[in-house]
Amino acid sequence: MNPSRRFSIRTHGCQMNVHDSQKVANLLHHEGWTAAEDADSADLLIINTCSIRDKAEHRLYSELGTLREWRDARPGRVIGVAGCVAQQQGDALLRRFPQLDFVYGTHNLRRVPSMVEAARNGDRASATDESSTHQRFDLPTPHPELALDPARRAYVTVMEGCDMFCSFCIVPFTRGREISRRADAIVDEARALVDRGISEITLLGQTVNAYGRHALRRAGAAGGVVPPQVIGFADLLGELDAIAGLRRLRYTSPHPAFFDDQLVRAHGELESLCPHVHLPVQAGSDRMLERMRRRYTGDEYRRLVARLRDRRPDLAITTDLIVGFPGETEADFEQTLRLVDDIQFTDSFIFKYSPRPKTAAAAMPEAVEEEVAQVRLERLQQQQRSLTLEAHRARVGERTEVLVEGPSRRGGSQRTGRDPYNRVVNFPITLDGVGEAVEAGDWLDVDLVDATPHSLIGEPVSDAAPNLRPDWEQPLPKRPLTLP
Ligand code: 5AD
Ligand code: SF4
Repeated sequence: MNPSRRFSIRTHGCQMNVHDSQKVANLLHHEGWTAAEDADSADLLIINTCSIRDKAEHRLYSELGTLREWRDARPGRVIGVAGCVAQQQGDALLRRFPQLDFVYGTHNLRRVPSMVEAARNGDRASATDESSTHQRFDLPTPHPELALDPARRAYVTVMEGCDMFCSFCIVPFTRGREISRRADAIVDEARALVDRGISEITLLGQTVNAYGRHALRRAGAAGGVVPPQVIGFADLLGELDAIAGLRRLRYTSPHPAFFDDQLVRAHGELESLCPHVHLPVQAGSDRMLERMRRRYTGDEYRRLVARLRDRRPDLAITTDLIVGFPGETEADFEQTLRLVDDIQFTDSFIFKYSPRPKTAAAAMPEAVEEEVAQVRLERLQQQQRSLTLEAHRARVGERTEVLVEGPSRRGGSQRTGRDPYNRVVNFPITLDGVGEAVEAGDWLDVDLVDATPHSLIGEPVSDAAPNLRPDWEQPLPKRPLTLP
């Protein structure tokens, strides 16, 4: 008998998790599995989990409760749990949830196919051992059946793990020590993706711009002869920018401590490097930044932004902010409001502090009351909404280039896509004859005519036919960099 092999993966959390799910999907394709339409038609279900805040972790537990029925509905079905909760809990998850068949952590993706086979034979197991070797980057090339993003975007991992140990953050415990991939492997992967029609690549790493720092230091200590695969982050960007057909290069998330002059300069020099940086600041008060162990002051962050804008005046900067960190006073919070106003972030993700196991902040006194944190969250969100709307309104009248993602969430005949600043642009299909044909993966020039706090509204430029590309294999040339 050849039992049916269809898988479905549910992903929570960050881009790293999204990309890990893609890597596991690829491994499964190589073992003869195919992607199921949905969980109902799947034989294997994997939940890729997040533990950055308490709420994310609890979602898994309620989800597993409801999945008991799914598993019992058809013989041979198996359930696996992956990601950060899996890395933390390992065997404990198997003990607590009898409906669970296997658990694998963030360093053990390559073991998934064998764990699935074992699970189908009734062996429950967990794999959460940490790996500090480059072997964990040895993954097969994309299987022909692996679905690439129709909007032609892809992630490429450049480094994993984090050695920063910010006092609030669980990531160093769930993702382990910082390790950078070989530069030649990264460039080869990017080139292969572009050859398959991908035109936007986002480089991923927990502190992505720390790329290469440990290897460079080790190579330096070994006598100054640096092997060719060891390069710094700005050099890596340069190599990727040189790939013909790669029109948009992004990276996330950088840490403010790792912007050397070369990286700052790259923002004014590399044609494909997008004018957007997501640059988490977390707080505006130096006292909080110190307690968070962020390794910069508010003014150092302001100076970094000034250096970047000096090279790229139109740079859009977005950020992450935490309110209600232990010891945060009203005065500290006002420093955050002030910094947000000074920088004029285009957008922010704002979180209420959530104590996480093993982190230094979990043991800190002076917890901020929930109601106080909630009020601060709402005040900050309100301020950001106005700033975002202001930033969007300032662009009305501008012409921008959109990489089309598909029908807009607002429904109707609207399409949606992203501009180089990573802002959502919605546009009606007004272009006679041509507009109807606009699809995911197309490039379209639009004139921005209106703005909301969530998106920009555009109108396709009627005298410039969209760059429709019937052939995925024909990359468009890069656009020359023009600075305002
Ligand atoms: N509580 C609240 N927010 C957190 N983040 C990380 N850890 C915590 C925590 N314990 C936020 C930070 C980080 C983003 C990914 O999540 O702002 O940049
Ligand atoms: Fe967490 Fe800080 Fe590392 Fe970012 S740099 S992943 S916030 S420990």
